[in-house]
Amino acid sequence: MKKIVVTGGAGFIGSAFVRYSLRTYPDLHVVTFDKLTYAGNLENLRDVDESRHTYIQGDIADYDAIHGAMEGCDAIVNFAADTHVDRSILGATDFISTNVTGVYNILEAAKALNTERVLLVSTDEIYGSIAEGSFVETDPQEPKNPYSASKAGGELIALAHHNTFGTPVMITRGSNTYGPYQYPEKIMPLFITNLADDEKVPLYSGGENNVRDWLYVDDHASGIDTALRHGSPGEVYNVAGDNERENIVLTNRILELCGKDDSSIQLVKDRPGHDFRYSIDASKLHALGWKPQMDWDKGIEETVAWYQDNEAWWRPIKNGEFKEYYKRQYANREV
Ligand code: NAD
Ligand code: DAU
Repeated sequence: MKKIVVTGGAGFIGSAFVRYSLRTYPDLHVVTFDKLTYAGNLENLRDVDESRHTYIQGDIADYDAIHGAMEGCDAIVNFAADTHVDRSILGATDFISTNVTGVYNILEAAKALNTERVLLVSTDEIYGSIAEGSFVETDPQEPKNPYSASKAGGELIALAHHNTFGTPVMITRGSNTYGPYQYPEKIMPLFITNLADDEKVPLYSGGENNVRDWLYVDDHASGIDTALRHGSPGEVYNVAGDNERENIVLTNRILELCGKDDSSIQLVKDRPGHDFRYSIDASKLHALGWKPQMDWDKGIEETVAWYQDNEAWWRPIKNGEFKEYYKRQYANREV
């Protein structure tokens, strides 16, 4: 592979993938294609080698724009999505446009251009919640919120496209991802940055029971790269961190690392339809030679330290669009 397009490359995981790819493959050229929604930020790409990187602003829901960006490229890796569950509960129109129509446009452009590899980054949330055990790739999709339903829709169209037209699509389903450059609407950066401002952390009531599997962002990037290069078209690969934690355990560790105690927890009304537990088995990707490398204790310590050291990155975000969203999302939810 000489040239790839990374859609959503100015977001959290997409930018980590761009950095990972440029560092790992010295002859590779990366084209980042991104709409720059509230979650996109060119500061996330501030360290990339510009001689091997091109940036195009555009929307994957615009067929001509994405077709143009894919011309001359060997592969496309799609991170572009609306990604926050709470925002999808407030309104999901953009989620359908990007996560379904946008994905369809990528598939159609890949068909027209004979693109060699198409990797769609998806999520463990498409399985829904599991009380015990872990999902494998052949388990049915049972998404339970508008975000995960839109991601499942994009997946179904992609698998049908492979079946009908032979489009060389691979899908990855990753766990909850953490690390530097994550928009502070997600639990980890939200809680760390609130505590830096001596504010409380809004834990959804029932948080002691909800469980997420935590995957370090560079491990997610390398897992996606493994599926892109070594996976088989038409196949799905789970990307797990093998680090399951109850939300209260995660919250207490963040409090400890930030020098706070549980008086900084504000219990708030639960998320409607809140999935209880996500858990996936990544044996299929392990068989291709991938394993997560980051140790949990080191990963969370480094992540907390990164946000503490990079206020210049998150302060403009928290003072910007985020402010209105936060008020709308959390007002009058105390329990
Ligand atoms: P993010 O919200 O940080 O970034 C999304 C990026 O996509 C932004 O740069 C945004 O500007 C861009 N974008 C949005 N709509 C677009 C459009 N129509 N056209 C072009 N660009 C557009 O997202 P993230 O957390 O990095 O997630 C990336 C991908 O990984 C998503 O597909 C998500 O579903 C998946 N995923 C995320 C997690 C997680 O824990 N964050 C876990 C598993 C899978
Ligand atoms: O599992 C993969 C998914 O992980 C990705 O597909 C999504 O894009 C990503 O947003 C993430 O979804 P979650 O809903 O699990 O992440 P979030 O950070 O929003 O919430 C994690 C847990 O923390 C969840 O149980 C809800 C809880 N929570 C979250 C927020 C934002 C709180 O208790 N308080 C909060 O303020």
